[in-house]
Amino acid sequence: MTAEPLLDVRNLKVEFPTRHGRLEAVSDVSLRVEPGETIAVVGESGSGKSVTAQAVLRLLPRTCRTGGSVRFNDRDLAGLTESQMRRVRGAEIAMVFQDPMTSLDPLFTIGNQLVEALRLHLPLSRRQARQRALELLREVGLPEPERRLRAHPHELSGGQRQRVMIAIAIACNPALLIADEPTTALDVTVEAQILRLIRRLQADHGTALLLITHDMGVAAEMADRIVVMYAGKVVEQGTVEEVLLDPRNPYTRALLESIPRPGLDRHSLMPVIRGTVPGLAEMPPGCRFHNRCPSALDRCRTEEPTLLELADGRQSRCWLHDPNTRRPDLTTSRGAGHVQ
Ligand SMILES: Nc1ncnc2c1ncn2[C@@H]1O[C@H](COP(=O)(O)OP(=O)(O)O)[C@@H](O)[C@H]1O
Ligand SMILES: [Mg+2]
Repeated sequence: MTAEPLLDVRNLKVEFPTRHGRLEAVSDVSLRVEPGETIAVVGESGSGKSVTAQAVLRLLPRTCRTGGSVRFNDRDLAGLTESQMRRVRGAEIAMVFQDPMTSLDPLFTIGNQLVEALRLHLPLSRRQARQRALELLREVGLPEPERRLRAHPHELSGGQRQRVMIAIAIACNPALLIADEPTTALDVTVEAQILRLIRRLQADHGTALLLITHDMGVAAEMADRIVVMYAGKVVEQGTVEEVLLDPRNPYTRALLESIPRPGLDRHSLMPVIRGTVPGLAEMPPGCRFHNRCPSALDRCRTEEPTLLELADGRQSRCWLHDPNTRRPDLTTSRGAGHVQ
């Protein structure tokens, strides 16, 4: 089946004006989401995941410069007017963020906010919207929905607030849900419940999911395909089996080693890779990962790797795959290691 993908991002580039001049936060990112499928975009904090999602929805500040193309349902999103784009957001592509407290207004009841969100996109009277709000709260598994409608956000737990956000997100039955770290602020048990809820809603409505997470464990549980990002670039992508069982890129391998073992708190364990993602003004020459990479060679320090097509059709941005990369003379280096 080679039907049009639902979302087709090609060579996306985003530049921010900074006091060091224009700097690239996202560079040459290409990814596709097919109808109903789940793509996880994985990478540590600062990898460019949220900027990618914001670029898709055209939510970046006007001062940003973007390049490449974003097609959704066979339309070029860059070509839409702002009011057409507003209709796409929410109705066709919905978004759930990490911290529902920042998306919910503390001054208004959950009912008010749900009713407003529904009436923004659907031709409903207040009474009909309230009825639909109750149905939605039931659908996302909030007990006593009538009472929740009268509650203010601070009266709900983090997990309950995220259920409300998901209720708002699915209200118009969007074809694509973009969830940016939807469970990062929640504890592990609630995280599992929310992930299960998202999967059930996807199964019931055929919604595609672009799931952004720093957590390989979450990606492993949810995704059909995984896109690994580092410092604004895609470094590897493949099916969940390919990436988890046979990772090719040293960064992917390092991320996999940081999946927490059962019983440990995953949030306090991340990240275990030494160092952090470089900031926009601190990009090292050569491969952006070389100074944290256990396998770096001389070439990696000077020349930036391209996304290399491997013999089996996989892609990975790493000079180790290139036969022209000069390796150190192993006999000498091993000999030196044995001196002591
Ligand atoms: N408005 C902005 N202005 C300047 N730099 C930004 C802005 N937003 C994000 N960045 C930078 O872009 C990079 C990618 O950020 P982001 O997409 O938020 O990472 P992630 O979501 O993967 O943690 C980071 O270096 C971040 O500091
Ligand atoms: Mg982010």
